[in-house]
Amino acid sequence: MSTQEKSSDRIREEVSKDYATMIRKPGTGCCGKPAPKGFVAKLAGYKEEELAALPADAVENSFGCGNPLSFSEVKDGDVVVDLGSGAGIDLLIAAGKVGPMGRVIGVDMTDEMIERARNNAEKAGFKNVEVRKGIIEELPVETGTVDWVISNCVINLSPEKDRVFDEIARVLKPGGRMLVSDIVAEGLPPEILQIAGAYSSCVAGAIGERDYLAGLRKAGLTDVEVRARLKYDATQIKGFIDSELPNFSEGGCGCGCDMGPIAGMLEGKIQSIKVFARKPAE
Ligand SMILES: C[S@@+](CC[C@H](N)C(=O)[O-])C[C@H]1O[C@@H](n2cnc3c(N)ncnc32)[C@H](O)[C@@H]1O
Repeated sequence: MSTQEKSSDRIREEVSKDYATMIRKPGTGCCGKPAPKGFVAKLAGYKEEELAALPADAVENSFGCGNPLSFSEVKDGDVVVDLGSGAGIDLLIAAGKVGPMGRVIGVDMTDEMIERARNNAEKAGFKNVEVRKGIIEELPVETGTVDWVISNCVINLSPEKDRVFDEIARVLKPGGRMLVSDIVAEGLPPEILQIAGAYSSCVAGAIGERDYLAGLRKAGLTDVEVRARLKYDATQIKGFIDSELPNFSEGGCGCGCDMGPIAGMLEGKIQSIKVFARKPAE
């Protein structure tokens, strides 16, 4: 069954199962071969010193495609919500920025990720971090209470992106802002879309940049703009898939195979963008 024919709940279930599997086998890439952990975090643009201050587990289990906080003006006392918080890398960086008077709320649907993020927040000694179970299409967050929505490589995984954009607009305070790192794609070859794992690997569910920005505007957000972008070359795509997303490697070409041709097919077609938007002030 193709992704288009599956129900949204079924897609979320499969994505959640894939991320639960990935988090359970740290330190392994395709077929258990040792993977260069932390590759994704470095490629995503975090500073060495930023990563050094975090529990290693949060860094090693980062599945992001950018550093959404690097361009934000998150400050002391702010309330930040992280959509699809995973093992917590951005939650923890945000927690340091908002300080004890601020609050950081992570939302994720995968129990294994939620547990990991809570443990990492505890290890880092943050009392201002809360991780809630829920889906980003129906955020367990009160209306108009959030200064910043952040997210790292998650909205591409949603089968109902317009619902996510509406939810971002709902939870933000008037004047509240959003900075999201995510994957957008143009002209993906049909054979890629058929590969098991291509959806959970943040490739097959990605939409075009124009549709992404239009979706945010349709939700009522303003000042929508791309603040940074990284168009992956074949080497970066190969590293990304090999080191952090074993499912794609296994579904794509089997154990020990050469990911080069798949990476070549994707070159120039997927990029990570950092998108800003604002909820109009009343
Ligand atoms: C690619 S990982 C990114 C994790 C984290 N943001 C990071 O940078 O490491 C995707 C995460 O989003 C969660 N996720 C995916 N789709 C979701 C949805 N519709 N609702 C809630 N969580 C979702 C997954 O469980 C997983 O933890």
